[in-house]
Amino acid sequence: LKVPLLNLKAQYSEIQDELETAVLNVLRSGFYILGPLVKDFEEKSAEYLGSKYAIGCANGSDALYIALLALGIQPGDEVITTPFTYIATAEAISQIGAIPVFVDIEENTFNINPSLIEKKINSKTKAIMLVHLFGQCCKMNEIMQIAEKHNLKIIEDSAQAFGATCIYKGETRSAGSIGDIGTFSFYPTKNLSCAGDGGLITCNNGDLNEKIRRIRIHGTTERYYHCELGVNSRLDEIQAAVLLVKLKYIDAWNTRRAEIAKKYDEAFKDLDWIVCPKTLAGNKHIFHQYTIRIAPKAKINRNELRSRLLEQGIASEIYYPLALHLQEVYKFLNLKAEDLPVANQSANTVLSLPIYPELSDGDIDLVIKALKSSILEPAQ
Ligand SMILES: Cc1ncc(COP(=O)(O)O)c(C=O)c1O
Repeated sequence: LKVPLLNLKAQYSEIQDELETAVLNVLRSGFYILGPLVKDFEEKSAEYLGSKYAIGCANGSDALYIALLALGIQPGDEVITTPFTYIATAEAISQIGAIPVFVDIEENTFNINPSLIEKKINSKTKAIMLVHLFGQCCKMNEIMQIAEKHNLKIIEDSAQAFGATCIYKGETRSAGSIGDIGTFSFYPTKNLSCAGDGGLITCNNGDLNEKIRRIRIHGTTERYYHCELGVNSRLDEIQAAVLLVKLKYIDAWNTRRAEIAKKYDEAFKDLDWIVCPKTLAGNKHIFHQYTIRIAPKAKINRNELRSRLLEQGIASEIYYPLALHLQEVYKFLNLKAEDLPVANQSANTVLSLPIYPELSDGDIDLVIKALKSSILEPAQ
């Protein structure tokens, strides 16, 4: 491969000394779980995100599950969510015993379409779990208004959007800081990542903060006293040490991602067979992914394009090839492809291109050239 989808080794080599010192210090300290570095990372990330509280946990999937538990979502409740995301989002709802109610997405952002939400609200609806997909915030003003009107809880799945912002009620706010709870993943492919699994939960309510802290260690009030059912979902010190180092670079990395996106936008703007991702006014998109759509008029289909890119040494990925309402695991919901047409059509036409801060300008040009020549040159 000339240009991989992601190059974690390149990021590592840039900050190798800092990372190795930080991790070695943890090994030598003898303090491995929920120690001073986790506390430090929780405080620094809360401040960075503009949330009152941040609570470390084991991964982004647990963060979603704990959020639902903390908000008191019960078996049989309905939770509105998007069908165009990683399975973890809907899976957390199902693990609680609640029902995911899928609402279609908007074509230009891939995020949940606020104008379709109210139709799906009934007496069983208790929450909306939205996803700031690919690094861009959902339309939070509209969604929060609906939530307030119908007394629904809001969980912001911000696994792909650490540092993304939007204008909410006239102020710049970070993804994960607006609803009742925000959740993050630090899985190695994420824009802020650790060296293994890690997650974070944010909120602005003191009682909720206490509750989430209890739930992450088996509903513990004091050692060996338990007031409610919880889980084991702790962030370890090594991961916190890595995250504290990387948090210092996240702004520069997010800026570089947006710069790369701009280069792609510029290069593809005259190609009528590609639809570039749109950034809504007021949003800071951090381009966790740069995801194009192959327009119906293209003389090549998405999978062919992907093979042609690969022949030229360029990696690409399909996030996501099958919308959640059509997954085998959600067959029992009896939904058809056309029930959520935009999600379905997106699954059939999207392609994500390499985007990571260490991508050089030369690499970006290679991607652009390969993509353009894929359609001009007939297949061998
Ligand atoms: C949107 C979204 N939600 C949740 C998750 C789950 O995070 P984790 O893999 O840390 O459990 C991911 C990524 O994996 C994700 O992309």
